[in-house]
Amino acid sequence: MPRASAPGKVILLGEHAVVYGEPALACAIDLRTTVSASARDGPHRVNGQPLSDHHHAHLAHAIRALWPADRPGVDFTTEGRVPSAAGLGSSAALSVATCASLLALRDGGVPAEEAVARAAYDAEWGVQGGRGSPTDTTTCAHGHGVLVDKAAREGLLWAIERGPRRWNLHHFDVPDLRIVVGNTGKRGRTADQVAKVARFVGKSGFAMEVIREIGGLVRDGLSALRAKDAERLGRIFDRDHNLLTILGVSTPELDRLCQAARATSYGAKLTGSGGGGSMIALTDKSEATAEAIRKAGGTPYVVTPGGAGVRLE
Ligand code: PMV
Repeated sequence: MPRASAPGKVILLGEHAVVYGEPALACAIDLRTTVSASARDGPHRVNGQPLSDHHHAHLAHAIRALWPADRPGVDFTTEGRVPSAAGLGSSAALSVATCASLLALRDGGVPAEEAVARAAYDAEWGVQGGRGSPTDTTTCAHGHGVLVDKAAREGLLWAIERGPRRWNLHHFDVPDLRIVVGNTGKRGRTADQVAKVARFVGKSGFAMEVIREIGGLVRDGLSALRAKDAERLGRIFDRDHNLLTILGVSTPELDRLCQAARATSYGAKLTGSGGGGSMIALTDKSEATAEAIRKAGGTPYVVTPGGAGVRLE
């Protein structure tokens, strides 16, 4: 019985600006989702319940795309440690682990990372109604760091296209860092936040200047990461959070958690689409930073970024 696990993710830098052609950097975190798949006589089941298009949208998409109609049913068991609706890639991790276990059950052996990443993006695309970039699914499949860029560069993993859009996804080595995630517990809808930024860009040339400046911070951040310069990266996080606030995607809760974390960290910023969801702080005092986030009303997770991607257990 194939059993696959995939990590959640955080976006380190570049959210929103990536929609306008700037680079973005995401990395895997060591909170993982596990899915096992076995053949059964009778209809598909998930955790003992009948597979439902509504409740198990990602699994249903994966079954339709990958499972031959003339084969028997599949019994899925899922176990998720990535908090959901927190901007931490829980749905991408579920898609990746599902596709990996299903491909392994269908074909035997260990499926190729790229095939899993593509199938998982197809499932996400189907569930989200054709929005969003393949950043999350590629990061949850590949692990480590993933740099998304308009241009293909050294370390290219694969390119994914949808209509006129093309994303080049690259491997990036994440140095040893300590990050504390703070979940606000409020749900931020990616599509709403992307639309909000689009309205601002439509109205004001200033918004595009802010986006270009975020792109510059991503490039600076890559060089700070390569130099393992946590102080510089922390300052870049703070500056990026301010620019995202100007774009209108921060919230009072995200600002409060970032502010609380800064006393014991190198810097802090919201991560993902904003409007709720989570922030990240770069720190070497993870317990103190986690405590500060808790006191400010958030749920902290001390995570190690840049670990393994999808794995057959
Ligand atoms: O909400 P998340 O964590 O999937 O991040 C969305 C990132 C955006 O740049 C806002 C949108 C995108 O598709 O890249």
